[in-house]
This record gives sequence, structure tokens and C-alpha cells, in this order.
Amino acid sequence: MSRRACISLKSVVWGIALSPLLLLLYRFLTNGLGANPISYATNLLGDTTLRLLLASLALTPLRILLGISWQMSLRRLLGLFAFFYACLHFTVWIAVDHFFEWGELIPDIVKRPYITVGMLALTLLTPLAVTSTSGMAKRLGGRNWRQLHRLVYLIGLLGVLHYLWLVKKGVNDPYLYAAILAVLLGIRLWDWARREGWLGRPAWFRGGYSPARAADDMRGD
Ligand code: HEM
Repeated sequence: MSRRACISLKSVVWGIALSPLLLLLYRFLTNGLGANPISYATNLLGDTTLRLLLASLALTPLRILLGISWQMSLRRLLGLFAFFYACLHFTVWIAVDHFFEWGELIPDIVKRPYITVGMLALTLLTPLAVTSTSGMAKRLGGRNWRQLHRLVYLIGLLGVLHYLWLVKKGVNDPYLYAAILAVLLGIRLWDWARREGWLGRPAWFRGGYSPARAADDMRGD
């Protein structure tokens, strides 16, 4: 992809990724946050975190299935935006919902499974954000870096579990996210089994693994 196309693509992603925050700001300034503003803000930021996480997880399966790799340059950007929204989501909970009342916060984290799981997801996301630069990838070494960054599937799983545990009966959104995650993980597992030689290659399949693609994986920007 040309440099100009890459910059345009990233500008579009910046615009899309920042739009939930701008919407929140707009609603805040126009008193449009509804009857429960804290819940509205927490949910919008949580939803955005999960969507960005799944979007970042979809890039490699797209390459596997379609054999295209231009989208890989967006992985770091999407991952960092997911971390950014997770931090905002957590900040609203800790600062606006609980006013840093540690006496309430700690028991909440321990007693409520959905909070425990959310905290675990955020904690695991932090080293991935810190090591997302090309410099850190080189310092860790390709193999270690890739292994560490596979944690993103576990984080996606924890994010879906967090949503499943907190949502009221009758809301189906978490099941949709769970299904998307299962498909993405299924494609990765299928690709792994295929590369190990356990499966044949279907006629329609155009993608595949190559050292050049492994290098793409490592390129964070
Ligand atoms: C990667 C980490 C996380 C993800 C992906 C995530 C995702 C979500 C999602 C999707 C929702 C539901 C949104 C909706 O109902 O439309 C949500 C709600 C919520 N999350 Fe998280 N979350 C994460 C971390 C955390 C953490 C660390 C905390 C606090 C310690 C937290 C506390 C909450 C609370 C309290 C709600 C419910 C808000 C309400 O209904 O009023 N989350 N989160």
C-alpha cells in the first residue's frame, strides 16, 4: 500500500474510533446522557472497547481467508484505541461511579465476578499496549512478542464473559460478540491446524502463511 493510502486509511480509522468519544462529549454538553448518565457512559465506553478488540482480532483472519495484508498495519492502532477506551471505561467506574471509595471498590472487585473478569482483562491488556511498539517487539524477540500478543484472544474472551455476566436477561448482544469471537478464534485454529499439516487446503482458499506475512505480524505501525 502506498504511503498516502496508508495515511488516509489510518485517518479514517482515527475518525471512526474517536466518534463514540465525541458522541459522549456531545451528549454530555447537551444534557443528552439520559436518566442514568454514569451507566450510559460506562456502557458506551465498554461497548466500544469490545468492538475495537474484536476489530483488531479480525485482521489476521481476514488475511488468512482473503490473502490480503494491507489491513495488518491497523492492528496496533486498533489495539491501542481498545486500551484507551478500556482505561476510560475503568476511570468512569472508579472515579465517577465510586469516587475512589477504596472501601467499596476492593470488595466489588473481589465479590462481583463480572468486575473481577473486567479487571483481569484490563490488567492483561496493559502489557500488550506497553509492548506494542516496533522497538519493544525487537527487544522481546519475534517469538516472545507473538506469544505475548496472543493473549488478546483471552482478553476478548474475558471481555465477552464480563458482558455476559453483567447483562440483564433478554439482551442478546453479548451472544453476538461471543459468536464473532468464536468464528475469529476458529479461523485461527483452523489455520494453525492447516499449517501443522493436519488439514487439507480447500479449493476456494487463497490466503496462507508466509515468512513475509509473519514479518507483517511483527510490524506494529
Ligand atoms: C477489556 C476490558 C473491558 C471490556 C471489553 C468491557 C466491556 C464492557 C461491556 C461490553 C459492557 C456492557 C455495555 C452495555 O451494556 O451496552 C460493560 C459494562 C460495564 N463494565 Fe466493563 N469492560 C471492561 C473492563 C471493565 C473494568 C476493568 C471494569 C471495572 C473494574 C468494568 C466495569 C463495568 C461496569 C460496572 C459495567 C456496567 C455499567 C452499567 O450497566 O451501568 N469493565 N463493560
